[in-house]
Amino acid sequence: MKIQENVSLRPYNTFGFEARARYFVAVTSVEKLQELLRDPHWAAMPKWILGGGSNVLLTQDVNALVMRIEIKGIEVVQEDDDQVVLRVGAGENWHGFVLYCVENGYGGVENLSLIPGTVGAAPMQNIGAYGVEIKDIFQELQAVETTTGTLRTFDADACAFGYRESVFKRDLKDHYIITSVTFRLQKRPIYNVSYGDIQKTLDEMGVAEHSVRAISEAVIKIRQSKLPDPDQIGNAGSFFKNPEIPKPQFEVLKNRFPELPGYPVGDDMVKVPAGWLIEQAGWKGHRAGAVGVHDRQALVLVHHGGGTGQEIKTLAKKVQDSVAEKFGIQLTAEVNFM
Ligand code: EPU
Repeated sequence: MKIQENVSLRPYNTFGFEARARYFVAVTSVEKLQELLRDPHWAAMPKWILGGGSNVLLTQDVNALVMRIEIKGIEVVQEDDDQVVLRVGAGENWHGFVLYCVENGYGGVENLSLIPGTVGAAPMQNIGAYGVEIKDIFQELQAVETTTGTLRTFDADACAFGYRESVFKRDLKDHYIITSVTFRLQKRPIYNVSYGDIQKTLDEMGVAEHSVRAISEAVIKIRQSKLPDPDQIGNAGSFFKNPEIPKPQFEVLKNRFPELPGYPVGDDMVKVPAGWLIEQAGWKGHRAGAVGVHDRQALVLVHHGGGTGQEIKTLAKKVQDSVAEKFGIQLTAEVNFM
């Protein structure tokens, strides 16, 4: 395996920020990963795992061995008339995997079209969009323990999925490296078109009958209309999570701000769109030098070029402070800081 020194991470993060890795290696197989983790020379070195780099904010150089997971392959594990179970390499591009399912008519991931990043990173934060989360089609995953190189299988319970959460962001943070994810997909899917503008977009497209392909195309259209393309404007999708607040707090706010949207979560909590809060606090389209708040989706912070991760960090703090002051709600970042 070729380990490089002093490597620029700019091509490997969708914000497009410059930061240097002390050491960098592209990992292409489980065996090679285990070999590296068990090598006494590298065992002592701090490690940092990189997938698609679409959910990370680089604010400084990385004094570690950066391991970019490039384990590929899509394998049919089990199949009958109704379902197919696929094991997918952690380094596969997420949207590439969605397109594979669309081509084959496998239902379950069409609402998750065009999400940047890799398959291995998807369960880490239980990616979700348009009413579907990865946990809905998840069967199991395989991950290698960083200190021993032992391969372990995690079922959904062991992953402890929550809203943009899993055990890999919490108790087991930095303890495991995900190498493959296994999904259960449907050949006669039940479609989920109730969220947001999906049905409206299908109508505009003149689609009479739901299909995996049509829904994927509708989701792609919606995302392209709101979210900046990282190839053109640096960004990491939603920068903050949508906060969940206690119902009584929501009622009080709703009296003061009658337009405030909210979606019940269980009986006691209400989820409030952070994009709305940020827009109402006056930030939508705001620009601070090389960075700013996207003009079509206030939840997305953007890098116009020539800036640094520190500038995004400063802007994020200002946005948080002003939302806290106006609404008494503390936003938390969805993006991981380095
Ligand atoms: N809104 C505004 N102004 C804005 C943006 C949003 O008022 O500038 C309000 C509107 O009321 C809108 C509501 O927020 O109806 C929801 O907006 P949107 O449908 O764009 O979704 P979101 O809640 O902002 C979440 C996910 C996205 C996912 C979409 C669609 C989080 C943190 N983000 O965004 O995920 O694509 O729903 O399901 O939950 C990501 O995680 O990177 C991501 C893009």
